[in-house]
Amino acid sequence: MSGLGKIVARVLSCPIRAAVGLRMLDGHRGMEVASHLKGRLGSAMRKHLLRKMGAQIGRNAYIAGGCEFWFEDAGLLKIGESTQVDRDCRFGELMPCKYEVEIGDHARLFDGLRFGAYAGPIRIGERSRLNFFGVYRGPVTVGNDVEIAHHCVIVGAGRDFEDVEKPLLEGNVPTKPVVIGDSVWIGSNVTIVPGITIGEHAVVGANSVVTRDIPSYCVAAGCPARVIKRYDFDKKEWIRVITENKQS
Ligand SMILES: CC(C)(COP(=O)(O)OP(=O)(O)OC[C@H]1O[C@@H](n2cnc3c(N)ncnc32)[C@H](O)[C@@H]1OP(=O)(O)O)[C@@H](O)C(=O)NCCC(=O)NCCS
Repeated sequence: MSGLGKIVARVLSCPIRAAVGLRMLDGHRGMEVASHLKGRLGSAMRKHLLRKMGAQIGRNAYIAGGCEFWFEDAGLLKIGESTQVDRDCRFGELMPCKYEVEIGDHARLFDGLRFGAYAGPIRIGERSRLNFFGVYRGPVTVGNDVEIAHHCVIVGAGRDFEDVEKPLLEGNVPTKPVVIGDSVWIGSNVTIVPGITIGEHAVVGANSVVTRDIPSYCVAAGCPARVIKRYDFDKKEWIRVITENKQS
């Protein structure tokens, strides 16, 4: 690149970064204006700029206006082919993302989701759908073909409250990965605490708080969530689990 080209590129880089809402340039007016550009044109611009900064954005991905990307390194972001990120999703909350955020191909992230990858990575599988206003804090892995309803809180990071002499916010951020298998359906308003594994094709009822692992091919519900049904492969039907509930 010529000397003049380099100068032009440097001058442009500020509004370019701001335009996609990189909050490291908070306060730049360009961010407000350009990150809210609507439609295909706005999406094309955001994708182009994110790629230029090192993010991997797949073919035919769509990134709606109002999304913010707050990463220590834009190379940590991967958005799959034909994946749709709807309005006002924010990558990086509380702190910038220090770990990978990887969204698989043909996935759909509905409006207003929050992704915090400051203590561990977040991986969302292919064709999975995360509905409105959920909060995801890594380490979290979501499998393929998963449906997570709105207002779910799925967190692999917590607070170190063991030492009562130490102010809570000064402690480390302990992590235990949350792993959600393929073809899982999680109802609305569910909270999943750190360290939980949910097996393949399991279902979690609305408003549940999941504090124990849920095996594959089971329905669990309640606060705390307990298995209420499991699939019997011999009978080829879902069976009510009554005794398990009463014993637990
Ligand atoms: C979990 C769910 C799928 C179970 O459906 P189901 O298999 O038809 O279950 P049943 O209606 O046969 O209920 C079985 C028992 O579990 C209880 N139960 C069902 N869902 C429950 C829930 N979310 N929390 C607590 N208990 C629940 C029922 O009350 C019933 O108990 P009972 O026999 O003592 O009355 C369903 O109740 C649910 O929560 N769906 C999620 C809805 C949602 O969030 N949609 C968002 C859009 S994607």
